[in-house]
Amino acid sequence: MGEYYWDTQIEYLRNSRDLFYNDDYIEFLVKTVWKIETPVHLIDFGCGYGYLGLKLLPLLPKGSTYTGIDLGDKLLNEARELFARLPYKTTFLQGDIQEITLERKYDIALCHAFLLHVPNPMVILKKMMDCVVDTGKIITFEPHWISSSSNFNLHGHDQSRFVQLGFLQKLYEQDAARSGKDGNIGMKIPIYLSQLGLKDIECRVSDKVNFLHPNMEVDSKNRLYTRLLESGYADTPNEDRNIFINKLIERGATVNEAEIQYENELFLSKEFNLDSYLTYASNMKITFGSVAR
Ligand SMILES: C[S@@+](CC[C@H](N)C(=O)[O-])C[C@H]1O[C@@H](n2cnc3c(N)ncnc32)[C@H](O)[C@@H]1O
Repeated sequence: MGEYYWDTQIEYLRNSRDLFYNDDYIEFLVKTVWKIETPVHLIDFGCGYGYLGLKLLPLLPKGSTYTGIDLGDKLLNEARELFARLPYKTTFLQGDIQEITLERKYDIALCHAFLLHVPNPMVILKKMMDCVVDTGKIITFEPHWISSSSNFNLHGHDQSRFVQLGFLQKLYEQDAARSGKDGNIGMKIPIYLSQLGLKDIECRVSDKVNFLHPNMEVDSKNRLYTRLLESGYADTPNEDRNIFINKLIERGATVNEAEIQYENELFLSKEFNLDSYLTYASNMKITFGSVAR
């Protein structure tokens, strides 16, 4: 059997996260919006290498703890290594979230870029609810791919030259209808939380807009440029033309749409360079609510 997919994606996960949030916005959420003033016990569903723990623990009251669950052995080993150097109490559990049974003892169940990868998000959200105490909270950080696609501007070109929004909208919808896995889930979670009976539900959007331009400081420019490429934005299509096109057709594209998509991605990869002016916002949606038992 091949290696578990997400265990091969540690570099991608590490590089892409920087594009999502401003640190001061995360701090604003913790201190001003959620007003977390006493120690809390967090559990992170699909924790990967512990991204949310690394972001949140330094902002939380001393004594807060972080438990991460994931299927990826390598990801969890990476997390254990990273946290071994830090002063926080952490636990990492390897297992399939679909199967795992958890005690009801956490204050906050969280996830980041996880629910879009499960075919049954309502069942998993219910699992998250069931493992928090009676006054617990659910917090999800999830994408809305179509707004992310539309928030991509390369100076010197009409956006329609390299992003077919109508096609992508249909592609994402068809993928979700076929597999249950929904890259636009960020905009739906408030509804799901309401249907599951949570209270005080709110949804926010990350305020980060990445801005690459020739006049910025060289190290920041190199870092952002590399981050964008390594995260797959404006990168050369990584497959042979026919394979790329056939894969899209299998996902419901017409031949014409698939060919245009290939040409668009190729065009963008050729036009985008270290001296481009580019603005890009991930539009990650942060949804939260309280359990009321
Ligand atoms: C896109 S990654 C996000 C990782 C991490 N939250 C982050 O943002 O860096 C999705 C994660 O969900 C995990 N995952 C997906 N399905 C899972 C399951 N059924 N049980 C446990 N983990 C799962 C994967 O192993 C992967 O680490």
